[in-house]
Amino acid sequence: MFPLFLPFNFIVMKKVLVIGAGGQIGTELVLELRKRFGNNQVIAADVKETCSEALSNGPYIQMDVLDKENVREYIINEKPDDVYLLAALLSATAEKHPDFAWKLNMEGLFTILELAKEGQIKKIFWPSSIAVFGPTTPRDNTPQYTVMEPTTIYGISKLAGERWCEYYFNKYGVDVRSIRYPGLISYTSLPGGGTTDYAVDIFYHAKKTGTYTSFLNEESALPMMYMEDAIRATIELMEAPKENVKIRSSYNLAGLSFTPADLANAIQKEQGNFEITYAPDFRQAIADSWPNSIDDSAAKNDWGWREKYDLHQMVKTMLENVDISKLN
Ligand code: SER
Repeated sequence: MFPLFLPFNFIVMKKVLVIGAGGQIGTELVLELRKRFGNNQVIAADVKETCSEALSNGPYIQMDVLDKENVREYIINEKPDDVYLLAALLSATAEKHPDFAWKLNMEGLFTILELAKEGQIKKIFWPSSIAVFGPTTPRDNTPQYTVMEPTTIYGISKLAGERWCEYYFNKYGVDVRSIRYPGLISYTSLPGGGTTDYAVDIFYHAKKTGTYTSFLNEESALPMMYMEDAIRATIELMEAPKENVKIRSSYNLAGLSFTPADLANAIQKEQGNFEITYAPDFRQAIADSWPNSIDDSAAKNDWGWREKYDLHQMVKTMLENVDISKLN
């Protein structure tokens, strides 16, 4: 016999699986999801054998998203309600390993979409990126619907993934939700292999040496966002009523837009001593193909998105919190 009154957590607890939990987004997402749903309800999965210190407050499993049979078996046994699939190669690394980037960025998505189609998963989050846009896209206030001709492998994989997500929603009713993340700025875990990574690296160098050499030129305006806003956006989208999620490819999301020179000025104002020099490398061409700023009115209208952090608040928080011992 069931007791008449079930304990609160018995009723609402859902199980969440975050694949790619060791990355820049994954680490903070897992921590925030655990605050909301309980530490034991949120399983962190990553290809790394051992879990980072930051994620040690809850369950961790080693998972290679390319090992399809293992992923299938795990999900069918564990039955997570929501799966966040974050494992991917970012733009700069993908240019160096195009075959592997295409494989990693696409195959994991197919495995998860198929499991949701079979009813093994209720909801999927899959990240897209500003990289889905290209040099023929209008660069300022880039609309939700516009020309999309990405010129990087990463952008091509994200655009193809968006099309597949929408297809699985239309054809099979798979509840898949997505955001086109701008460059993400955070101090908990380092980014790796992206074109927007300069906007994180700069804080470590500013604090340690008072100087930084940027791999993008001073005029490269790019859409950016402080991680806390990005995590909140992700969870708000995932928790929004199904009927409010009208876009099943991926939502534009804007927060900040600045150049390396703007960022350097803001750091200088906050810290006093800081000098920047510029030595653009191959990542400049990637940045040049991406928007300067993004129109996110669809996210605002459909599920009430509002950013909180401006440039000044972001710079202040980063300078206060980056741990320079992470810089080798
Ligand atoms: N931050 C990513 C990159 O630079 C863009 O999504 O690759």
